[in-house]
Amino acid sequence: MDDLKAKWLQLIGAAGDESALEDLRVQAVGKKGEVSLKMRELGKMTPEERQIAGPALNALKDEINAALAAKKAALGDAALDERLRSEWLDVTLPGRTRRAGTIHPVSQVWEECTAIFADMGFAVAEGPQVEDDWYNFDALNIPSHHPARAEMDTFYMHRAAGDNRPPHVLRTHTSPVQIRSMQAEGAPIRTISPGRVYRADYDQTHTPMFHQVEGLAIDRDISMANLKWCLEEFFSAYFGTAVKTRFRASHFPFTEPSAEVDIQCAWEGGTVKVGEGDDWLEVLGSGMVHPKVLQAGGIDPAAWQGFAFGMGIDRIAMLKYGIPDLRAFFDSDLRWLRHYGFSALQVPTLRGGV
Ligand code: PHE
Repeated sequence: MDDLKAKWLQLIGAAGDESALEDLRVQAVGKKGEVSLKMRELGKMTPEERQIAGPALNALKDEINAALAAKKAALGDAALDERLRSEWLDVTLPGRTRRAGTIHPVSQVWEECTAIFADMGFAVAEGPQVEDDWYNFDALNIPSHHPARAEMDTFYMHRAAGDNRPPHVLRTHTSPVQIRSMQAEGAPIRTISPGRVYRADYDQTHTPMFHQVEGLAIDRDISMANLKWCLEEFFSAYFGTAVKTRFRASHFPFTEPSAEVDIQCAWEGGTVKVGEGDDWLEVLGSGMVHPKVLQAGGIDPAAWQGFAFGMGIDRIAMLKYGIPDLRAFFDSDLRWLRHYGFSALQVPTLRGGV
């Protein structure tokens, strides 16, 4: 009896988990367990033997059951302790905040331009950044010998020996989209074309890649007066204050007459204020679309005329948001982006009233 007791208590004490414990219970005190079988043998004993063996076996059974229960509780406690240790969570820790990205000033101003011109009836037209040199130059009345080609510091695409396709360039301005719009739509037209352009140039106000927005309006009787109204309307909406423009006679091969447009501004302690004072800042090139350009676009210059303009998006972004250096626009410096970037919720709005 003592051997049995020692054996089972030892086994129970060593059980590693609840299922091992359950196996031991079945083997010891289950219906066919060792102790149960011993109890059946009581029948074969003499009454004297039974009087000693019976209570002893019952006591053994109780002890084993008690040991099983105690071990089961201990295993349960250990499991709970382990869970509490591994699943412990410090609810007082500060949350891990995630930084939201910002909208780049170029994207913001791009959207602002689109919204304002869309309100005046202009639709967005886009063209390729790798452009056929016919679209970038010839169709815009810039033949190959023309000095404007050299002035634009053009990036030419590499051509393998024997490649006889017409040369391709990284477009130097958004004006080729004028031709594509004319070809695609015919007259009348009201489009703006925001996009990337490329010139080999690099200093505080020039980067080899920058952004322009082209404007094109073709109809039977469009004049420079319409151009001036459109631009003043645009600048006033964009800067949120009435802005005067000054047209200076200029020259572009693709417009005749041509004008460079300045906006009214004041210099105050090193910063510009648009719409005040009596200084002027050049912001775009414009003019009446040259008859040869209309022709290249498949539009009859005897029946249709219109204006075009090209404006630097980055440039007007610098002016509106007081950003001093253009190069920083494209450095991908997170500190700059966080400082000058816009929340995704700052949706561009049109000027109220007026
Ligand atoms: N394409 C010219 C430039 O990049 C701007 C321009 C566009 C001028 C349309 C006149 C008309 O400088």
